[in-house]
Amino acid sequence: HAHAHAPEGGWSWDGPLGLGVFGGYDNQQLQRGFKVFREVCSACHSLRYVSFRNLEGIGFSEAEVKVIAEEWPLEVAATNPDTGEATTEPAIPADRFPLVYPNEIAARAANNNAAPPDLSLMAKARADGANYIYSLMSGYQPVPADFPEDRVQESLHYNPYFHSLWIAMPPQLSDGLVTYDDGTEATTEQMAADVAAFLHWTAEPKMVERKTAGIGVLIFLLLFTSLSYVAYKRVWADVK
Ligand code: HEM
Repeated sequence: HAHAHAPEGGWSWDGPLGLGVFGGYDNQQLQRGFKVFREVCSACHSLRYVSFRNLEGIGFSEAEVKVIAEEWPLEVAATNPDTGEATTEPAIPADRFPLVYPNEIAARAANNNAAPPDLSLMAKARADGANYIYSLMSGYQPVPADFPEDRVQESLHYNPYFHSLWIAMPPQLSDGLVTYDDGTEATTEQMAADVAAFLHWTAEPKMVERKTAGIGVLIFLLLFTSLSYVAYKRVWADVK
């Protein structure tokens, strides 16, 4: 299958020269990606390890998160305090994103026997995660003319970035599908990049802290090494 690739211009976290050391998330982009997730992917995919309040990490205010949780199309499981019966209620910021299907069987039944996987950690589960999600979502194309006819899978969709070339997920993105609040033009590539960036964040929300700590360690080692050298020179200065 085809090699995944980065969107034009690379990722914000690749930083200058694509070194990957400096450079963090672009909250504007992550918020656009969240919009794509909310309006498109969340119809089938869950985000079971993410809480609504985690969204404060990409720049939403507490009040905005409260509204997002309350207005989420799926409610969370609850118990009726009077009757003790199972029921559902609107989510609050402390809740995880509710599951789309109650179980694997229901998920398969609704999707032509292929369960849509949880996307929380997808960017880590697949090699080259962000590039892969970007390439997969923007990579649907017509079946090549020379594709062996007996290997065409009628009920699946051709996508050269999927390991087996034929995926159960139908194409999801098309130009103009969502309307971005920041005026960014919602091309297929743009939405694919934004949702891939968002899913990179859900899988590694602490990337910036990790990189910053690494840089701190390097600076410390540099200073410590210079200091040891100066001390060594001093200690041995009189010894001929
Ligand atoms: C699989 C992303 C929307 C149904 C997947 C995979 C990813 C993904 C990364 C895993 C591919 C792999 O296993 O390597 C997304 C994104 C979406 C989206 C980012 C929104 C932009 C949807 C929607 C549906 C859906 C709306 C249902 C109508 C599925 C199914 C699979 C799948 C059934 C399993 C495919 C298979 O194993 O053949 N999706 N998806 N997806 N998705 Fe989506």
